[in-house]
Amino acid sequence: MKVYTEKQQIVNAIDAFKVKKQTLGLVPTMGALHEGHLALVKKALESNDKVVVSIFVNPTQFDNKEDLVKYPRTLESDIELLSSVSEDAIVVYAPAVDDVYDGDAVSETFDFDGLEFEMEGKFRVGHFDGVGTIVKRLFEIIKPNKAYFGEKDFQQLAIIKKLVEKHHMPVTIVPCPIYREPSGLAMSSRNTRLKPDFKEAAPYIYEILETAKKRFGTESADEVMQWVEKQFESHELLKLEYFIIADVATLKTVKRKSNQNTYRAFIAVYADDIRLIDNIALN
Ligand code: PAF
Repeated sequence: MKVYTEKQQIVNAIDAFKVKKQTLGLVPTMGALHEGHLALVKKALESNDKVVVSIFVNPTQFDNKEDLVKYPRTLESDIELLSSVSEDAIVVYAPAVDDVYDGDAVSETFDFDGLEFEMEGKFRVGHFDGVGTIVKRLFEIIKPNKAYFGEKDFQQLAIIKKLVEKHHMPVTIVPCPIYREPSGLAMSSRNTRLKPDFKEAAPYIYEILETAKKRFGTESADEVMQWVEKQFESHELLKLEYFIIADVATLKTVKRKSNQNTYRAFIAVYADDIRLIDNIALN
């Protein structure tokens, strides 16, 4: 499998694919790959001749320096995992920070029509400018026909769709369902950092989401949100940062339910110093 670390190398490889009229999928990642990433890659392989997997821990999207430093970096095993899926059809782009940012690792400022101020945007200042910056650059370098993103980062997905719409980028965004461990815990590269007792406690997050979904059938959004907050008050290991029920179109907290709208519940929880997020469709 080809692994490129320089922009010009990947651009040359992509030009060669385009000359052969090969279609191109992109799976952007920050590495520490798991089954969830592989599911995206496999989905991308179903409808593209070639798939670029970018592996890049993007510094501009981290609001917390320690999180950036501790973010798992496992390039060798990532490459092995991808090779087990396909040696020929997958190409890896694993650049250094300077290759992507040309010595100036700062974010652009974006207007995502308010999506960036909800949920994660309230707690991770500048995060979505960082995500927008790197994803826009990757789209410009790789020029994929399709790009694949997991619904675990549902707000990120909404923001990337907005980025593409506002910048008229010729790429189709393909959303992929959340991939879960057998315990129900949403797969995340950060899970590898969970100490055993926190790992054991973490599936509670999904249990709460499932119960919240049931309750939403008969209770108001406010009642469900209060119920969830209460469940975490006495939890010994997990600290709730937020739980909200939001309209998927605006990502704003629901005041009053309507049959016309589609809702989702979103949660962020600290397990020790590790921040876990998850979400579930409600209707
Ligand atoms: O979801 C991620 O892993 C990152 O936010 C992404 C999309 C690869 C951008 O760095």
